Amino acid sequence: MSIEEKIVDILERMTLHEKLGQMQQLSGTSGDFEERIRRGMVGSFLNVKGEAARKYQEIAVKESRLGIPLVFGRDVIHGYRTVMPIPLGMAASFNPGLVEEAAGIAAEEAAFEGIHWTFAPMVDVSRDSRWGRVAESAGEDTFLNASMGAAMVRGFQKREGDSIRGIAACAKHYVGYGAAEGGRDYNTTLIPEGELRDCYLPPFKACADAGAATFMSAFNDLNGVPTSGNRFTIRKILKDEWAYDGMVVSDWGSITEMVPHGYCADGKDAACKGIRAGVDMEMVSEAYIANAEQLLAEKKISMEMIDDAVARILRLKFRLGLFDKAPAGADDQSSSLNADRFDAARRIALESCVLIKNDGALPLAGKSTLAVIGPLADSPADMLGTWAMDGRPSDVKTPLDAFRSLNGSSIKYAAGMPSPRSFDKSLISGAVDAARGSDAAVIFLGEEAVMSGEAHSRAYLELPGVQLDLLKAVREAGKPVVVVIFAGRGLCLDPILKCADALLYAWHPGVAAGPAIADLLFGKVSPSGRLPISLPSAVGQSPIYYNRRNTGRPAQKGRRAGIPAGTPLDPREFCAAYIDADPFAEFPFGFGLTYGKFEYGPVKLSEAVLSMKGAVKAKVELRNSGKTEATEVVQLYLRDLVGSRTRPVRELKGFRRVTLKPGETAEVAFKVEPSMLAFHDEDMNYAAEPGLFHLWIAPDSSSGDHVEFELKAD
Ligand code: GLC
Repeated sequence: MSIEEKIVDILERMTLHEKLGQMQQLSGTSGDFEERIRRGMVGSFLNVKGEAARKYQEIAVKESRLGIPLVFGRDVIHGYRTVMPIPLGMAASFNPGLVEEAAGIAAEEAAFEGIHWTFAPMVDVSRDSRWGRVAESAGEDTFLNASMGAAMVRGFQKREGDSIRGIAACAKHYVGYGAAEGGRDYNTTLIPEGELRDCYLPPFKACADAGAATFMSAFNDLNGVPTSGNRFTIRKILKDEWAYDGMVVSDWGSITEMVPHGYCADGKDAACKGIRAGVDMEMVSEAYIANAEQLLAEKKISMEMIDDAVARILRLKFRLGLFDKAPAGADDQSSSLNADRFDAARRIALESCVLIKNDGALPLAGKSTLAVIGPLADSPADMLGTWAMDGRPSDVKTPLDAFRSLNGSSIKYAAGMPSPRSFDKSLISGAVDAARGSDAAVIFLGEEAVMSGEAHSRAYLELPGVQLDLLKAVREAGKPVVVVIFAGRGLCLDPILKCADALLYAWHPGVAAGPAIADLLFGKVSPSGRLPISLPSAVGQSPIYYNRRNTGRPAQKGRRAGIPAGTPLDPREFCAAYIDADPFAEFPFGFGLTYGKFEYGPVKLSEAVLSMKGAVKAKVELRNSGKTEATEVVQLYLRDLVGSRTRPVRELKGFRRVTLKPGETAEVAFKVEPSMLAFHDEDMNYAAEPGLFHLWIAPDSSSGDHVEFELKAD
């Protein structure tokens, strides 16, 4: 029998209560769940693994009436035991292949402990570093979130047709969660349909096209309708327009949270709207199982809706092979962190770090005495970042570990502060002394892991505690200062850069933090990461992103901020800017330095006119005129100069990592097709519109010269 035939066969034999049981996901082992499993009243658990998972599965398969297996889910977001850089850091690698490899390792480790399903990738486009969950995303760009999300789906699932050989992926949080007003988690989102379809939905479509077995609805109110009760986004777009046959799970309690949203009167109303919207499985809250029978009797929901939801849940379980597998679960003692996996973590951490500034202080090679400063230089748990519940600080090699194991360098360590958010300045002098007695100072600053992630938004994007005082004091020692930033978001770097000869942005780099950072700072490998999110010069700029609209009065670069006393109002200065800050990001999306020196030749187009069925080849000659082998992330940007809706000033449409030795050149080419120019017009028709376009092949989203081409209607 085919999976579909098996689904029909089981559905026909299920009672209503057994169907509602499949739609219920519970968490952990603290409740008296065994009897509920035995009665077929649970379809899934999260946060149950190993021996407990094996025991629950045994009951479900051998003691429930129909023996339908449970599916076990868990947040395996950026590694399981081998914790990789946070997703924002992995996105900075601009290396989907490596991200896919990392997801594959996570899947192997999680599956080994009885986990079938991860609640990842998170592909919420976010343009606001105040939002704590930007750490879990691929940042501000639609194309990069789509690329990274699809790569993670492939890596997690190892899907072959209808068979998922890895663990099921879950594209989340569907949809628009990253547009939370004020960067405050769970907050309201107001997104016009055109922007929803052109900016926020494409990463989810990419995950669906990559075969993501599940989606997760979100917490946010989208234009007045919570996403966990939103028939337009789930039933109309996801399940009808995209013909998605996977399963949609709610977020934790997001069904019953529609009551405080003021969208549902009570749990029964929430169950009605969740089921009608097409959320197939309820995570943790129990509105469905408590109210569906009554809702059916009142004809507020239909049995077709229930059967469709249960069919999708069974389809997931068949695709995972759970009906054929022995009860899952493995010996918890099995150590899944091995040298190969640690090396993979090191490789992706190497490629995720972004070199923001280097006045020549890097690479450090040859320095005999180094001052290593800052409480984050030796804080294993903070290297793991947010959502690393199965990571172990004991697995982490910190920067101090790595520096101390270097031959030929002697290390003076000074924490400089009791902890990263401390206001105690009493240890600063010790750090200054260490710097004075060294050839250079490497100071590790930024956020603890706990300062980003869910429900951890910030209103300020600056260094916590007295970190800046520590940096300024170390600067006074008069030695070269290299700053390494750990963060789960984009921070305002301006005051830091004034005291730094070099700055490496390391996000939260995972178990291999130390070896990767040491390899980069000592020049064994050139930094190659690029910013997946704009770094604002002031938090007041948030939300800030490169692919902005131009407005009718665009701000000009280099425009003087401020109004000198006595200056008469100058109408020429009436533009989309601030009087007290630069309107542009301090460091734009796509920015990153290397130890090489990359020169771009002029962009050449195969033709200046593109027909609706044609393609144009755009290429540049790239040369590394530096003295060090390095990798450049070459980026393709397009701009539609005139559209039936205003269009962004640039949009990323391609990227490529190119490694060149000193003196080496390479041709880097991109194919440009009309499909890359399409967008949703006022009537939501998706098409490319004839007209003029600008094209860049550039090192980041704000530099490079454009060339022009025309798209002609056939
Ligand atoms: C959380 C998160 C979601 C996660 C789920 C299960 O609240 O919003 O991303 O997967 O609950 O832990």
